[in-house]
Amino acid sequence: MSSAPASSVAVGDGAAVPRHVAIIMDGNGRWAARRHLPRVAGHRAGMEAVRRAIRGAGTLGIGALTLFAFSSENWRRPAEEVGDLMGLMRFYLKREIDELDRNNVRLRLIGDWRRFDPDLVRDLDGAVARLSGNSGLLLTIALNYGAQDELVRAVRKVMAEGLAPESVDTAAIEARLDTHGLPPLDLMIRTSGEARLSNFLLWQAAYAELLFIDTLWPDFDAADLERAVAEFGRRERRYGGR
Ligand code: IPE
Ligand code: IPE
Ligand code: MG
Repeated sequence: MSSAPASSVAVGDGAAVPRHVAIIMDGNGRWAARRHLPRVAGHRAGMEAVRRAIRGAGTLGIGALTLFAFSSENWRRPAEEVGDLMGLMRFYLKREIDELDRNNVRLRLIGDWRRFDPDLVRDLDGAVARLSGNSGLLLTIALNYGAQDELVRAVRKVMAEGLAPESVDTAAIEARLDTHGLPPLDLMIRTSGEARLSNFLLWQAAYAELLFIDTLWPDFDAADLERAVAEFGRRERRYGGR
């Protein structure tokens, strides 16, 4: 993935549609707490928002959608919640795979997700393989992902491959990031009102437009995504130029 300029595409009315949108899907716990429900109910409702986001991205002509589903720091949560999240991932894959396939969605995973339980890893591998022939929306799910961890793994690859120090440049690093080959990140959205990146796509966000919205993730809908894309269309991107 490169941070080259002019990655967004113009549509009918001339407004730019982001080619690559990333979302930090935050606020499931607070959504549940407001309803006096257990946190897992928020995560379950969050799955419905994932479905809406994927459909909405397709409708709006977004080419690549990257979703932060489980961070390398989320292991710090109580074992019960981690277990619930893993269970929901398996459930989600089983329930959604046919529709994803029908909608021509391609699936890619980033992060150190092979450290998940072997059963889940097998399901994830199966889902990626099943959707690999598709040509529509490129859906990337970040699982056991941390941007610092991603950079450490990239640097390790550089060293293991014995690259000469003077040949290590931004392209050499990018080629070894989990996101290599994805379009440059245009728009990063975080829900739930928090204004931080929480170790998500730190390198890739170098020139992304950042948007923090108050909606809690389980309430996120097509209109939120449309508003985000409209806001992106109003931003002026400069890349250090004038
Ligand atoms: C996001 O919602 C889901 C994951 C991080 C897996 P949270 O669970 O972080 O919800 P809040 O931030 O506690 O409301
Ligand atoms: C970021 O949300 C991770 C995901 C959305 C998967 P967190 O809720 O884990 O982030 P912090 O703890 O508020 O920074
Ligand atoms: Mg949170």
